[in-house]
Order: sequence, then C-alpha cells, then structure tokens
Amino acid sequence: MRKPLIAGNWKMNNSIAESLALVERLKVLLKDSSGVEILIAPPFTALAVVRDAIRGSNIKLGAQNIFWKDSGAYTGEVSPLMIRDLGCEYVIIGHSERREYFKESDEVVNKKIGTALRNKLKAIVCVGETLKEREDNRTMQVIESQIKRGLEGISTSELRIVIAYEPVWAIGTGRNATPVQANEVHAYIRRLLSQIFSEDIASGIRILYGGSVKPSNSAELMSEKEIDGALVGGASLDADSFTQIVRSACMV
Ligand code: 13P
Repeated sequence: MRKPLIAGNWKMNNSIAESLALVERLKVLLKDSSGVEILIAPPFTALAVVRDAIRGSNIKLGAQNIFWKDSGAYTGEVSPLMIRDLGCEYVIIGHSERREYFKESDEVVNKKIGTALRNKLKAIVCVGETLKEREDNRTMQVIESQIKRGLEGISTSELRIVIAYEPVWAIGTGRNATPVQANEVHAYIRRLLSQIFSEDIASGIRILYGGSVKPSNSAELMSEKEIDGALVGGASLDADSFTQIVRSACMV
C-alpha cells in the first residue's frame, strides 16, 4: 500500500515573514491529518525558519533544487549536504521550470538524483510533456526518455524516489490533466519502472500528479488507482486550499 504524499512547491514565492505566517496556519489546519504524508518545499531563504516552525509537527521539509556536487567552487549553487543540514528530507529534481529556464537536461537531472540519493535525501523526480509534444502524440515517448535517462545507473539499494508527472501544459495554467489522462501516464510510468527495476520495486514507488491541482479537482484526481498524491504549486501558497487538497488524499 502506497501512502499518499501531498507536496507543496512554493516556487520563488514568500518572504521569511510570509513563509512563517503560512506555515503557522498550516500547522493548525493540518494537525489532525493522518494517513497522508505532508511536505512543503519553501524557497532556500526560508528553509531554516520553516524547519524550526514545523519541528514536532506532521509537516516535512523539502528543497526545490540542488547542485550535483557536495561542495566546491560553484558560485551561487546549493549542495545536497547544505539542504540536509537545513533539515530537508526531500528535494525536487528536474522540475519543468528548471528544464526550461535553466536548460537542465536529463543528464543533469540524472547527476542530481544520484547525488541526492548518495546524501540520503529523497528525490522527487519531475517528468512531463509540453503541449506540442502531446499534440504530436509523443507523450509516452517523452516520458520514457525522461524516466530512462533520468534514472540511468541509479541503484536499487538507494532508491528513495518519488516520481511527479507534471504535464507542462497544465502547470500554472488552470487547465489540469483529466484524471483519466493522468492515470494513463502514471500507469505507463509504473510499467517503465518495472522494466528498469522490478515489478515489486515499481509497485512501491509513489507517482504524484502535478499541474493546476486545486481543491475542486483534487479528490477526483486522487481517486485514480495510479495517482499516489500531488505536487501542488499555486494552491500550496494558500493554507486553506492546501489543507483541502491534503484532506482529499486522506479520504481515498
Ligand atoms: P501549479 O499547481 O501552480 O499548476 O504548479 C504545479 C507545479 O509545477 C508543482 O511543482
């Protein structure tokens, strides 16, 4: 049985004061939520204060990115050791915004996954097709390439990964994939994971959906067999919306 994971990706939003206000509200609203893992990924600048604020609560901490080296002359980058030091359990890797704006290739994503796992972090690996790729009927081909290249050489002994299927055309657009569309890609991802690892291992890996998840569509998405949670952007910045999404996963 895979425990659902609801993760809030705050992206490049919230000052320290705003982050604290949001997390204090989430702690109150989510304190009785059980049967679901809850994660927030604030910007780097707020990780330390959020870590202190969530101590002893049921909310876990993640970062939105890392560099693939542990330390060294890499101006402006943040290493896996640094985010571990800040109390992060998870890190998001290969988000489409990083692939698009920072030209992160599957090879870079692969290196980041490797270094995250080596440093005992759990990696949330993002994949997803663009609108053009979907319209050209290339969705499965794109997903296959991102999954296979991203996970190349990753050993099963350190496989603390979650996959997030985030169709690029659904991110921040208000237009979510339908539950059936998402479930179909999730099932395909699980088949790929079975081929790369084994059926047994693949059946234990959570596959989240991301892209315009809101309180109004989350229950329907979560009810699909292959959808094990959500990676939430915009709606995670509002405590009430994020709480409703968490609740919809508790009810499945
Ligand atoms: P939205 O929920 O704002 O569409 O963003 C999804 C996302 O990119 C989460 O990582």
